[in-house]
Amino acid sequence: MAAAAQGKRDLFASRLGVLAATLGSAVGLGNIWKVPALTGQHGGASFLLIYVLSTLVVALPLMIVEMIMGRRTRANAYKTFVMLTPPRPGLSGMSGASARIWRITGGLSVLAAALILAFYSDVAGWVFAYVPKAVSGGVATTDPQAAARIFGDLLANPWESLLWQWLVLGCIAAVIMRGASAGIERVTRVLIPLLFLLLVAVCIRSLTLPNAQAGLRFLFMPDFARIDGDVVLMAMGLSFFKMSIGFGCMITYGSYFQADTHVPALALRVMVCDLLVSLLAGVAVFPAVFSFGFEPTAGTSLLFLTIPAVFASMPGGQFFTALFFVLSAVAATGAMLCLLEIPVAWLLETCKLPRPRATLLVTLGVAALGVPPTLSTGIWSSWTVFGLSFFDAYDFATSNLLLPVCGLLTSLFAGYVWPEREFVAALTNSGNLPLQGLARLLRRACRTLTPLLIVIILLHGLKVF
Ligand code: ALA
Repeated sequence: MAAAAQGKRDLFASRLGVLAATLGSAVGLGNIWKVPALTGQHGGASFLLIYVLSTLVVALPLMIVEMIMGRRTRANAYKTFVMLTPPRPGLSGMSGASARIWRITGGLSVLAAALILAFYSDVAGWVFAYVPKAVSGGVATTDPQAAARIFGDLLANPWESLLWQWLVLGCIAAVIMRGASAGIERVTRVLIPLLFLLLVAVCIRSLTLPNAQAGLRFLFMPDFARIDGDVVLMAMGLSFFKMSIGFGCMITYGSYFQADTHVPALALRVMVCDLLVSLLAGVAVFPAVFSFGFEPTAGTSLLFLTIPAVFASMPGGQFFTALFFVLSAVAATGAMLCLLEIPVAWLLETCKLPRPRATLLVTLGVAALGVPPTLSTGIWSSWTVFGLSFFDAYDFATSNLLLPVCGLLTSLFAGYVWPEREFVAALTNSGNLPLQGLARLLRRACRTLTPLLIVIILLHGLKVF
């Protein structure tokens, strides 16, 4: 099946390109915004430690599974579940009704990607808007209240927020229109080294500030007394979002891998590099935060309020603030490429549309979906859904609901529905890699440990406990 389709499909051309594209999809605002913010709020190193363990135990196995599913079918996330579901009712003990669940799983993954992009592109729009503001010195203030006013003005101005969001979506669409190798691969091969370069530059500046070691101690010396059930579950949930699991990302990108890609090695590399980016982001942020006596627990406002204030306090602050927002914009771009590619791949393969037209239609749809969350942080702030603003509702529906549900169903699918023979063949590149033991172990984890951990994350995310 795979070989037959390979001739027609636009695959990532080089090993480096596969790594850059996949790493680009995992690295994102999550590394620059969510990981430092949650690390700051939940005790620093102890949170990071649990986060690393969760990534290893929960996210990595599912990442490998999603990648091999996509590579096996060479199709979008929805079609992958359709193609891998045994065709006749009764096969593997399935009824027609239960077969439908797996098809719906693929559909939900595509929907999750579109919903995430709808509010993610809003935050990315703010990041892009801060680049010219930072370059012109417009956000340079050491007064946290003035910083809050600058950010509040951006949120309160509906047209400014929407125009930045649409501009960002337009740029991402221009890349996606060119396809997997000429678009995604070519752009991420430039973005990823650029991201590391910018991060290292900001880290060096942060580490050479007085009292930088207080920030490093906070980041790297675990305080085990801070670890409780809440911290563990939050770290597990974060590892899902971070590694782009549960919304068809790794299935879609897996479908562009070469037949001989060593998927477990690639997934491990992506995980390690992604953790490295998160750690470097922490090193860029916390020594500076401690050096100028700011609060490490500022949460989500860390990115737009604390960072400009912290960097404005230090020599060369304007330059480094601009650099920081450029690197955040670079990180956001890689993740958004993947988020847009998921529904585009689905539409173009389902409706047999040319790629440019499918990209245009999906981008317009996402831009429309993005209006409520964008306006909800400004002029629609009084409108709520189940007591949540539209922005928080989109975030809750995806991070707390759709991602764990799709992750759970994907795990059960790989563990119980996808026949073991097929699973082993997909992971071992049809027997060419000596990984049969790993394949069986992984499939066993998909039947027991992984779903169990995801159910716990899901119940915690739904505030059941
Ligand atoms: N994995 C992407 C991020 O962390 C979605 O931003």
